[in-house]
Amino acid sequence: MRIPPNWPDLVARYGTPLAICDVAFVRGQCRRLRAAFGFCDLFYSVKANYNPSLVRIVAGEGLGVDAVSPGEVELALRCGVAARNIVYVENNMSDAEMEFAVERGVRLVVGALSRLKKYAARYPGASVGVRINADVGGAHHARAFTAGPQSKFGIHFSQIPEALAIASAAKVRVDLVQQHIGSGWLDEAIFAEAVDIILREAARFPDLETVDFGGGFGVPYKQGDHPLDIERMGALLKARTEAFKANAGRSLRFALEPGRFLVAESMALLATVQDKKAGSDGRVFLGLDAGFNQLMRPALYNSPHEILNLSHPDAPLAAYDICGNICESTDFFARAREIPAAEEGDVLAIMNYGAYGAAMGSVYNLRAPAAEVFFEGQRSWLTRGRAGLEDMLSSFVE
Ligand SMILES: Cc1ncc(COP(=O)(O)O)c(C=O)c1O
Repeated sequence: MRIPPNWPDLVARYGTPLAICDVAFVRGQCRRLRAAFGFCDLFYSVKANYNPSLVRIVAGEGLGVDAVSPGEVELALRCGVAARNIVYVENNMSDAEMEFAVERGVRLVVGALSRLKKYAARYPGASVGVRINADVGGAHHARAFTAGPQSKFGIHFSQIPEALAIASAAKVRVDLVQQHIGSGWLDEAIFAEAVDIILREAARFPDLETVDFGGGFGVPYKQGDHPLDIERMGALLKARTEAFKANAGRSLRFALEPGRFLVAESMALLATVQDKKAGSDGRVFLGLDAGFNQLMRPALYNSPHEILNLSHPDAPLAAYDICGNICESTDFFARAREIPAAEEGDVLAIMNYGAYGAAMGSVYNLRAPAAEVFFEGQRSWLTRGRAGLEDMLSSFVE
């Protein structure tokens, strides 16, 4: 993304913490993926960032939505995404949620034999997708693997015969096979391995119409991370899907569920240095007016988000422990991080805020989410206001 030159005006107008989103960047990522994977249907994984304005922009670029909860399905419908362009990949759903998905007419992908049984009992003769755990996981952090022996997701591929038996007993057509190996991998070889396994397994489903390879395409967070060569990956996947179609002897659809790749780098979280203090061992703490309730990735995954000093970009480098305003010892954005020397009042930009930043946020300590401003060309507009105490307490009953 580019930091807009009028960032001081935005900060003066809306205050900090403030998330800013470069809409042109989002559009560019959507177009890049569509060009590289033109043979796949693309479903934006809205869990990465559910800001409705962003969902509408991505949908406007021709993508469907990948949802993981009824709330996300409802949001996508409200944003004008047609039900047929929404894939709901469930995990541990209730019967009521299953009925909701069927009533709304979205494509449901079940991730457990027991859920498949319940679906078959309730909807004999209908169609459904299944999520397969192909035993290969990949992610930016081991905690973000969503396949492999320790993962709670999907039906392990050794259980496919049972899945087929459940489906055929109720004349249920398993028309979609899906996998998602994890979030934020940068290793093309892992993806290729998982693709080979899922295609091998998908061939066992007689009513197959679509193979969905999930999402997880990573982006660089720190120096030395190599960005994915999306165009080369498109070619790699195309060759494999063409061979699969030729073997199957019929036409099939293919799908992807990218989240992070589309939006991570499009946003920054702007925060003001409130407090600069010396520690007892030579370290210096920079305390910001943002916290892990707005960005918990560093606390959760040790994620190395780049941090810029917008106020003094050319100052000599100095090392800081950069922390937030949440009353928890884990509330750090970075330790011993070198940035241009900062003073109280300086505005810092924490980069790659667009994916799993606000979306994973909370109102812990009764601190509100960051306000969000989008910009495109010369225009900027508020897409999320600052919640007040009443908003944060609205579901309580006294
Ligand atoms: C089922 C499913 N699909 C797609 C994604 C998107 O992952 P990412 O944002 O890394 O592309 C996720 C996230 O983990 C997911 O759970």
